[in-house]
Amino acid sequence: MTGSHWFEPIADHLGSAYLRYSFTKGTRQEVDHLVHALDLRAGTRILDVGCGPGRHAHEFARREMIVHGIDISQRFVDLAAADAPAGATFERADARALSFDAEFDVVVCLCQGAFGMMTANGDDEGVLAGMARALRPGGRLALSAFNAYFVVKYFEDATFDADSGVNHERTEVRDESGTPAAVDLWTGCYTPRELRLLCRRAGLRVDTITGVEPGRYRDDPPSVETPEYLVLATRC
Ligand SMILES: C[S@@+](CC[C@H](N)C(=O)[O-])C[C@H]1O[C@@H](n2cnc3c(N)ncnc32)[C@H](O)[C@@H]1O
Repeated sequence: MTGSHWFEPIADHLGSAYLRYSFTKGTRQEVDHLVHALDLRAGTRILDVGCGPGRHAHEFARREMIVHGIDISQRFVDLAAADAPAGATFERADARALSFDAEFDVVVCLCQGAFGMMTANGDDEGVLAGMARALRPGGRLALSAFNAYFVVKYFEDATFDADSGVNHERTEVRDESGTPAAVDLWTGCYTPRELRLLCRRAGLRVDTITGVEPGRYRDDPPSVETPEYLVLATRC
């Protein structure tokens, strides 16, 4: 069942203007890195959880992989489906209630805050369990999550709640014609230790956690200095 989410009206306002944000510009490098790190090949079945307007899903499909993207925002799903390459399909679905069962070789959940937006109300375990269930045994997960240390150190205008690990930001987003809207964003933020514990509980073996930023996915060890961590894990 697909519920509603506070991000949907924000996505409705943003529409394709989402793809103007600088953090969306590194898609090819990010996919290059994942293809290499996960040894992805033509025909690999990928689930993209929180796919947004489909930028990673499209790039995987252009490389002859079979990709299904899900997102809570119908607006983003429509954008993703509108110019989808062959091999990419999309549907509106809620990451907090995934019903896939071992259909996929790989699950990705990418981009600053995607996982954290799904978990801001404390649904971490359910969201990760749904992704793990979608993988065949031995299938791989690539998940990026906001770095809690980085947020505390560098985000001056945001409010980080130490108890929940959720960051609240009041900001402005612009639609395709440039009209601004004031919005609230809540993002769950993580330490590598928390990510390892969550993965273990979901039946996933963590292979690596690296420090990354949009368009600069690398093999650097986790630190305080990158906005995201990239977790690569395997379903046990
Ligand atoms: C920061 S965007 C990232 C989108 C895309 N992965 C990318 O890299 O551009 C976060 C996405 O997560 C989606 N999202 C948030 N909560 C969700 C949920 N509960 N279920 C499915 N998608 C969700 C939002 O609609 C949004 O498209």
